[in-house]
Amino acid sequence: MAKKSGFRTLVLLLFSLSIVYVNCALPPRTFDVRMYGAVADGKTDNTKAFLRTWEDACEYGGRSRFWIPRGTFLLGSISFEGSCKGSMAFLIKGTLKATTDPQQFFTDTWIGFRYLDKLTVKGGGYLDGQGAAAWPYNDCSRNSNCRTLPTTLRFDFVTNSAVNNIKSVNSKNSHINIFACHNMNISNIRLTAPANSPNTDGIHIGTSNKMKISRAVIGTGDDCIAMVSGSRDIDIDNVACGPGHGISIGSLGRSHASEFVSGISVTNSIFIGSDNGVRIKTMAPSLHSKASGLTFQNLFMRNVSNPIVIDQQYCPYQGCRIQSSSAVQIQDVTFRNIMGISRTQIAVNLQCSGALPCKNVKLINIDLGYHGRGGKAKSLCSNVIGYSYGKQIPGGCI
Ligand SMILES: *[C@@H]1O[C@H](CO)[C@@H](O)[C@H](O)[C@H]1NC(C)=O
Ligand SMILES: *[C@@H]1O[C@H](CO)[C@@H](O)[C@H](O)[C@H]1NC(C)=O
Repeated sequence: MAKKSGFRTLVLLLFSLSIVYVNCALPPRTFDVRMYGAVADGKTDNTKAFLRTWEDACEYGGRSRFWIPRGTFLLGSISFEGSCKGSMAFLIKGTLKATTDPQQFFTDTWIGFRYLDKLTVKGGGYLDGQGAAAWPYNDCSRNSNCRTLPTTLRFDFVTNSAVNNIKSVNSKNSHINIFACHNMNISNIRLTAPANSPNTDGIHIGTSNKMKISRAVIGTGDDCIAMVSGSRDIDIDNVACGPGHGISIGSLGRSHASEFVSGISVTNSIFIGSDNGVRIKTMAPSLHSKASGLTFQNLFMRNVSNPIVIDQQYCPYQGCRIQSSSAVQIQDVTFRNIMGISRTQIAVNLQCSGALPCKNVKLINIDLGYHGRGGKAKSLCSNVIGYSYGKQIPGGCI
């Protein structure tokens, strides 16, 4: 009797195991937007068709392939939300085109992905933000109540995911915004907008960790990559930046006092015709915060206005001209093997806080030339504690 029930338990166990097995082995399934009514004529609004496609793809328990074939699909503001039952590949072969209708574009997101795990966005396709229709409405430099324009791709609360082989052109606002994400790889991307387009950051990251950005070509009207408070463990490698404002950490100290920045590295990258190379900026006055473990190495600067910058007196708004110090502690920063040509005479400019000087800043093998009037390249440094080793052109900073 005992033997028989043991056998029954075994059979039951094998049976339930096989259910689990079958469930895992669900084949990948493709969800083609055309099967849900999407039309690639560049005129039909495909927002509803894409949402219907997403609903089914997200419900599928195996690997879903959200399939956008070749052709031009007009798409309104849309948010693809999880959690989904299985993993999701979002495959863009064609071109997604944003609206040029001002009645529709004052929103913060064009294409959003939220609350997703194991998402991949790839396919070689284009995201055309049609920004030229919206840039004239960007008056944020003069108007503090300016209306929001949409970021092309927004990731919020996305984990263990990848973006690969995607091109974004003429975003109305930032190209890619990353918030509250963990473990993402972004590679083989090309983000472009004219040098004079307002606030078209390439990639903007905040409150996120374990990010890897590699093989990216970014030329825009704002920062190529900007990392703000709560950016931790970020590895940037093999980026070509320019035109644009360079790769920036900050501005920090404006809010989120406890969200420190740490473990950021920018390596093997080239800056061409950009306003800055690598820059750390904090507000003054500021809330208390900290940025540490920052490494910038093997960087080539070609015709860059300000190749190496720490600016703890960042104050872009009217009414913040008061002389007060930043309370953001910057420490453990390494600039190593940085060479090329500066467009202005001050090639190295480290302006740290009078209240909290920068600690353990290392300049190692710096070789930056200047070909304009006024003589050789110079450095300008204050409140910096650190070391310099190897070649130092310009020298005399620390
Ligand atoms: C990111 O890339 C690294 C190797 O470069 C790999 O080990 C890791 O699994 C990738 N993560 C994701 C989420 O794709
Ligand atoms: C340097 O960059 C500026 C601004 O991007 C550009 O106007 C200028 O033509 C560039 N000069 C060279 C020599 O590339």
